[in-house]
Amino acid sequence: PRKIIIDTDPGQDDAVAILLALASPEEIDLLGITTVAGNVPLALTTKNARIVCELAGRSDVKVFAGAEGPLERPLRTAEHVHGDTGLNGPALPDPVMPLQPMPAVDFIVETLRNEPSGSVTLCPLGPLTNIAMALQKAPDIAPRIAEIVLMGGAYFEVGNITPAAEFNIYVDPEAAKIVFASGVKLTVMPLDVTHKALTTEPRVAAFRDMGTPVGRAVAEWTDFFERFDMEKYDSPGAPLHDPCVIAWLIRPELFSGRFINVEIETESALTRGMTVADWWRVTDRAPNAMFIGEVDADGFFKLLTDRIARL
Ligand code: BDR
Ligand code: CA
Repeated sequence: PRKIIIDTDPGQDDAVAILLALASPEEIDLLGITTVAGNVPLALTTKNARIVCELAGRSDVKVFAGAEGPLERPLRTAEHVHGDTGLNGPALPDPVMPLQPMPAVDFIVETLRNEPSGSVTLCPLGPLTNIAMALQKAPDIAPRIAEIVLMGGAYFEVGNITPAAEFNIYVDPEAAKIVFASGVKLTVMPLDVTHKALTTEPRVAAFRDMGTPVGRAVAEWTDFFERFDMEKYDSPGAPLHDPCVIAWLIRPELFSGRFINVEIETESALTRGMTVADWWRVTDRAPNAMFIGEVDADGFFKLLTDRIARL
C-alpha cells in the first residue's frame, strides 16, 4: 500500500475522504492526519478529524494539529456550507482519543525524512498552509515527496468562494503558490472534476441503506451539506470534493485530465486565489500539475459505497 498523510479541515467531504482511506488498507497506509484551519477554525477541524476516526473505530490513528491560520492573511471559514461545527449533520460523541503532541508541520517533515525517499504521498484536502510551512522549514523534503494529490482550484468551473477562486486555494493563496512552485509532482482535483461527483438521491440512499453507523453518518453529513447546493443552485446533489483525492489513489483509471501549467494569483483583489490553468497550453510555461477534469461518477460512487460498507 501507498503511504500517505492526509492534511485536512473536516468538513463533511473531508470526513468521507478520511473514511475512504481507512476503509482501503490494501491500497492505503495512513501514516497520520494533520489538521489545518479552513472550513472552520483549527480547534474544530482537529476535533472533527478525531470524531471521524472514532466513528470508524480507529482511535489508533495519529492526529496532529497544524496551522491556526493562513501564512499572511486572516482566516476565512465556510460555516455557510458546513455548519457551525464544520461537521453538522449526525449527532456524534466528542472524541476521547488523544491528539499527538507534535505539531503537524514537524510530523510532516520528520516523516518525509525518516521514510524512504519517494515513498510518502501528501493528500491536502484544505488550505495548503501546513504543506507550504513544511516546504519552507525543510526544503530538503521536496525531492523526498512521492507526490502531492490535492483538492483545490478550478478552471472552467471557476470560483465557489469568489467568482474567480476555489475555497482551499483562496483561503491561503501564498501557501498554494509555494506548493505549485515546489517542483513536487502534483495531481490536482479542481472543481471541474468534483462538480461531476454529485451526491444524488439514489447515491445517498446507498449509504443510508447500509444500516451501519458509518453509512448513516455519511448519509446525514451529505444531507446536511447538500442543502446548500440544492437550495442555492437547484443542483441534484452536492459535489463530494475531497474523496476524489483518495479515490484517485485507489482507482486512477476513473479519472482523466491534462498535465499543464498552473499558476496561483496572489496579488489581485479581484481574482486572488485563482488557479490560472493553461488548459489550452497557450504559454510556454512548463507544466507543473496534472489537472483532472473528468471522473466516471458512477464508478466513483460504487467504489465509495463498496468501501464505506466495510466500516
Ligand atoms: C473545498 O472547500 C471545502 O469547503 C471542502 O471541504 C473542499 O475541500 C471545496 O472548495
Ligand atoms: Ca476540505
